Amino acid sequence: MEWKKDYLNKLTTADNATTYIKSGDTVVIGHACAEPTTLVNSLIDNKDRYKDVELIHMVAMGKGAYTQPEMSQHFRHKALFVGGCTRTSVIEGRADYTPCFFYEVPSLFKENYIGVDVSIIQVSPPDAHGYCSYGVSVDYTKAATESAKLVIAEINNHMPRTIGDSFIHVSEIDHLIESSYPLIELSPPSIGEIEKKIGAHCASLVEDGSTLQLGIGAIPDAVLMFLKDKKDLGIHSEMLSDGIVDLYNAGVVNNSKKTIHKDKMIATFLMGTQKLYDFVHDNPVMEMRPVDYVNHPTVIMQNHKMVSINSCIQVDLMGQVASESIGLVQFTGVGGQVDYVRGATMAKDGKSIIAMPSTAASGKVSRIAPFLDHGAAVTTSRNDVNYVVTEYGIAHLKGKSLKDRGRALINIAHPDFKESLITEWEKRFNDDFEKVFLERVI
Ligand code: COA
Repeated sequence: MEWKKDYLNKLTTADNATTYIKSGDTVVIGHACAEPTTLVNSLIDNKDRYKDVELIHMVAMGKGAYTQPEMSQHFRHKALFVGGCTRTSVIEGRADYTPCFFYEVPSLFKENYIGVDVSIIQVSPPDAHGYCSYGVSVDYTKAATESAKLVIAEINNHMPRTIGDSFIHVSEIDHLIESSYPLIELSPPSIGEIEKKIGAHCASLVEDGSTLQLGIGAIPDAVLMFLKDKKDLGIHSEMLSDGIVDLYNAGVVNNSKKTIHKDKMIATFLMGTQKLYDFVHDNPVMEMRPVDYVNHPTVIMQNHKMVSINSCIQVDLMGQVASESIGLVQFTGVGGQVDYVRGATMAKDGKSIIAMPSTAASGKVSRIAPFLDHGAAVTTSRNDVNYVVTEYGIAHLKGKSLKDRGRALINIAHPDFKESLITEWEKRFNDDFEKVFLERVI
């Protein structure tokens, strides 16, 4: 019970706790829906105390006020992912994006590529033994905290107590504050007819007994809609959202055929509504672990029949996948896409799927393009790519020559763009698309 005394000694107010952060410090913010909102607000409210504080964050689900122009003397955002509230600051040069596979992010802190002065986190109230749970975000938050010189924690009684390698003891925290507010939520996306078609194609590639990783957004949620008749599915995923709760309750996901962590769902962070947060609270079926374990390709590959489903912005005719930038604009980040593409490919009977609508910008742009836009970053290389899916079907690229990849991709492009893509293909390969198509069919 010694920890209780320790807890009381460390208990303070947000505005006092943040006085321990100094100008020039590098501060890592607890991730995504576990952002410590009260502490972040205290930094903003007391901005004049600070000069050149570097704030490191990945998927920023809060307001991102520290990226506003009037904050630029006080805070500089170092982004490990770019999202809605941080994109403008990266485009306008007030913030920087650092490319890094998600599974390697903890090593940036542990191996001092990025020295962490302060970690500010949001955790659950301590259990009877003085352990707080990292709750919905274990990911890099645990490694950053364990590497930090100073740890400031916000104890929120709404934070679910998730189980796994997901705990921090009160003794490891330097200053703590108490708060009580509902977690940041991510509402389920709206799923249209195109997403449904894509979901059905992806689901056709999922065999009974598969283990799934699902990325973020409408397409992964649409896939879930078409899995209701499958059996014995398992989950090993960087992130989980609400859709998984229904599939688990329906008995479709039971994790019984998993070849690593049998009977458990594995994830590193959660973004959903209260429905998901209630489901994971104290639930031993759900195991949360750091991202350098969950997303490590050599761990992912131990799941037989591993299927990864992620989305992208553009695919060129060679199968190079741009998922994080639109030309020179850093739109999001690599996240765990390549971790899972590689892990699933290495797994026995594994499949990696890149799924996207065939067009973007209200149908004006084909996502299947002769070349990636000028300046676009290749996220998944042509050597790594396996299945590409649009609402028009499935292109299986692995093992296919450049000519055949081009053909397979054009076959799933939007009809409005097929002719121009065929013209580009014929120019590049000095061949007749239709003739080669017929030769292959015969
Ligand atoms: N040219 C021009 N604009 C494009 C475009 C292209 N080729 N592709 C997309 N866009 C635009 C869209 O039109 C849309 O704009 P709008 O909001 O004004 O309509 C915007 O970019 C977002 O595209 P959309 O496909 O709707 O995004 P999404 O929310 O489905 O996310 C990714 C798709 C690729 C950005 C997202 O999956 C991602 O960040 N992936 C990388 C990380 C990852 O895979 N992590 C996996 C584990 S979570």
